[in-house]
Amino acid sequence: MTARLTPIAAASAASAASAATAATATRDAPAIARAPTPVGVTYLSVDTVVEIVRRKGLAACLHGMAASIREDFLRWNDFDKSARVGNHSAHGVIELMPISDATHYSFKYVNGHPANPRIGLPTVMAFGVLADVATGRPQLLSELTLTTALRTAATSAVAAQALARPDSRVMALIGNGAQSEFQALAFHHLLGIEEVRLFDVDPQATAKLVANLQGTGLGVTVCVSTPEAVRGADIVTTVTADKARATIITPAMIAPGMHLNAVGGDCPGKTELHPDVLRAARVFVEYPPQTRVEGDIQHMPADFAVTELWQVLAGTQPGRTRADDITVFDSVGFALEDLSALRFLRDAATELGLGETLALIPDMADPKNLFGCLLNHAGAAPQSLRRVA
Ligand SMILES: NC(=O)c1ccc[n+]([C@@H]2O[C@H](COP(=O)([O-])OP(=O)(O)OC[C@H]3O[C@@H](n4cnc5c(N)ncnc54)[C@H](O)[C@@H]3O)[C@@H](O)[C@H]2O)c1
Repeated sequence: MTARLTPIAAASAASAASAATAATATRDAPAIARAPTPVGVTYLSVDTVVEIVRRKGLAACLHGMAASIREDFLRWNDFDKSARVGNHSAHGVIELMPISDATHYSFKYVNGHPANPRIGLPTVMAFGVLADVATGRPQLLSELTLTTALRTAATSAVAAQALARPDSRVMALIGNGAQSEFQALAFHHLLGIEEVRLFDVDPQATAKLVANLQGTGLGVTVCVSTPEAVRGADIVTTVTADKARATIITPAMIAPGMHLNAVGGDCPGKTELHPDVLRAARVFVEYPPQTRVEGDIQHMPADFAVTELWQVLAGTQPGRTRADDITVFDSVGFALEDLSALRFLRDAATELGLGETLALIPDMADPKNLFGCLLNHAGAAPQSLRRVA
């Protein structure tokens, strides 16, 4: 797949030029009355998404993505939803996450392979597509590894705004890998968290996080264990990666009024919270059919009481009702958040004139003449098409 390094601003010119070429190529074909719809797909590479974050600012991107996610959660019933499809192996999972409303369809490809960092690969890698529902035309193809970290942190913040005590200032952050800076900074910018208390079984991951948080205004305390990090925290974020039924947080660590943002338990057989923590708490989820299989509540009976986050945001179900409630956001990551993130990226790229046009779909003057793509500019079949095998 080759990308023409063309800014979006030049996309329509490029499309017109390619339509003209196609018209020449099919000179002998019957003329069509209408100009063909451009099929160029906008491509956002990692570099482009980095540029968007640098130009808009990280805080603005987190705020923007959170607003987009909140807006879509408030339109919950407009969406055709399904639990993601996971292909599991002994090493991890590869998942496809589709969703649509009347206008947009999106999907994300994402993996989860906790041992990957040992061979120099990220645990989580992703890309995705935003498409027009009316025609099926792919509109945008984007990197989503960086974007997943942004959207997950923004979703955690949206949930915590509804569920955590408003006076929360200290957050424990257990698991200091790829997602951790994004979580720390989303809670700093969107919740007013002033101090993070860090623990990871890998001290190098914590050292990396400390270095990356320098100059952000967040106070940082490195702890030697999860119980030490959690002690005195208002919010506890668990964002560990281990293909195991782990119990990172046990009932003894929990204090009244805590909000738990449980991000890392997101796959069958991969959990972070002791079942008694869930029993002691009010539990909030994205999409129950997915979370009951993948989330920390996979431990619990099928009728274990949960509240859907969208209902809290819409005001139809209560979030935190008392200062001493223990609340859990059992986050697994839902396709809706990726659609929201893709919408945000598309709009930001358009605003900043960033992105490339990708020749992903054949651009044809006559859409029925797909074979014409193989012909040369004179409309003749090259020798290679005539050769008999
Ligand atoms: N809910 C969501 O929407 C969502 C989105 C993205 C990632 N995730 C999940 O978040 C987790 C973290 O992702 P990442 O990209 O940061 O992975 P990562 O591999 O970069 O980092 C995970 C960190 O957890 C640490 N860890 C493992 N076991 C631990 C333990 N018992 N105590 C403390 N630390 C421990 C590891 O040493 C590592 O530094 C993964 O499980 C991933 O699947 C969830």
